Amino acid sequence: SSVPEQIITGKARLAGVLGWPVAHSRSPALHNYWLRRYGVDGAYVPLPAAPARFEAAVRGLQAAGFRGANVTIPHKEAAYSLADKLDQTARRAGAVNTLVFREDGTILGLSTDGDGFVASLEAEGLPPRPRTRALLLGAGGAARSVAAALQDRGIEVCITNRTQERATALAAALPGADVLPWPVWERELGAFALLVNTTSLGMEGGPDPLFSPSLAHAADDLVVADIVYVPRMTPLLASARQQGLRTVGGLGMLLHQARLGFREWFGVDPQVDKATQDHVLGSL
Ligand code: ATR
Repeated sequence: SSVPEQIITGKARLAGVLGWPVAHSRSPALHNYWLRRYGVDGAYVPLPAAPARFEAAVRGLQAAGFRGANVTIPHKEAAYSLADKLDQTARRAGAVNTLVFREDGTILGLSTDGDGFVASLEAEGLPPRPRTRALLLGAGGAARSVAAALQDRGIEVCITNRTQERATALAAALPGADVLPWPVWERELGAFALLVNTTSLGMEGGPDPLFSPSLAHAADDLVVADIVYVPRMTPLLASARQQGLRTVGGLGMLLHQARLGFREWFGVDPQVDKATQDHVLGSL
C-alpha cells in the first residue's frame, strides 16, 4: 500500500522511546508509519538514555517541547516515581510505560501494556468478562501490567510462576490476587476463563522455544493468550488451536499499547489493522 511521505515542519509534534538499549525497539517504525498514514505533522525517535541520566533526559525532552515518550526497559519503575500523576492501572502496575507532558508542566504516567493487552482481546471479540478468573503464567513486569489491567475490569487474577516467592510477592502487591503452585497449574485449568503466558517461554531464542504445556484440563470456552509475538504462532497457541480453543497472540498487545500512547501525543486514534501488522512484521 502507498503511504504518504512524513511531514515534519517547525510545528511538528514530537515523541520518542526512552530505553537502554533502545536500538531494537519497533516503536519508531510503528509510530512513524502511523504519522505518515494519518498525515500528522510529527516525529517519533529512539532516545537512548542510561539509567543514571534518565531523569535528566525526561526533563530535557519536556523542556524541549516534546509531547511525551514511551519508556521501556530498564526505566519503567523510574518513570513511575517521576510522574506527577498516575492513572489507576499504572498505580496498580507499579510501572509506567507512557509519559505525557501536559501544558501545565506536569507529567502524567500511564501503563498502557496491560490496557493494550485487554484491547487486543477486545479486538478479537474476546473481551474478558468481570467476575471470571484469569491464570497468569509468570511474575515479572509484564505479568504485573496484565494483572493490573485485568483487575481494573473486575477479573479475578491468579498467578503461577516457576519461582514461587516471586508469585507470592506479586500477589501481595495486587490485593485480591492469589497464587497457584507452578507444578499443578495444568491440572487446575478447568477453573479459568483466560490463560495468559507472560513469560518468555515459547519465544524464538527464549529459554524454551518449544514450551507447550498440556491444556487437557481446560474448559471448552478457555481463551488462551500469549504475549510472545515472535513467532506469532507459539507452540502454546498452536496446541490451544488444535484443541479447538480460542487464541490471542502477542502482536495485538504491542500494537494496542502503542496506539494508546499515539492517541495521547498526536491526537489521532490509529487503526490496528492488517496493514499495521504487516508494517511492523516487515520491520521485525
Ligand atoms: P518481564 O519483566 O519481561 O516480565 P522477567 O521479570 O525477567 O521479565 O520475568 C520473566 C518471567 O519468565 C518470570 O516469570 C520467569 O520465571 P522466574 O521468576 O521463575 O525466573 C519466567 N521464566 C523465564 N524462564 C523460564 C523457564 N525456563 N521456566 C519457567 N519460567 C521461566
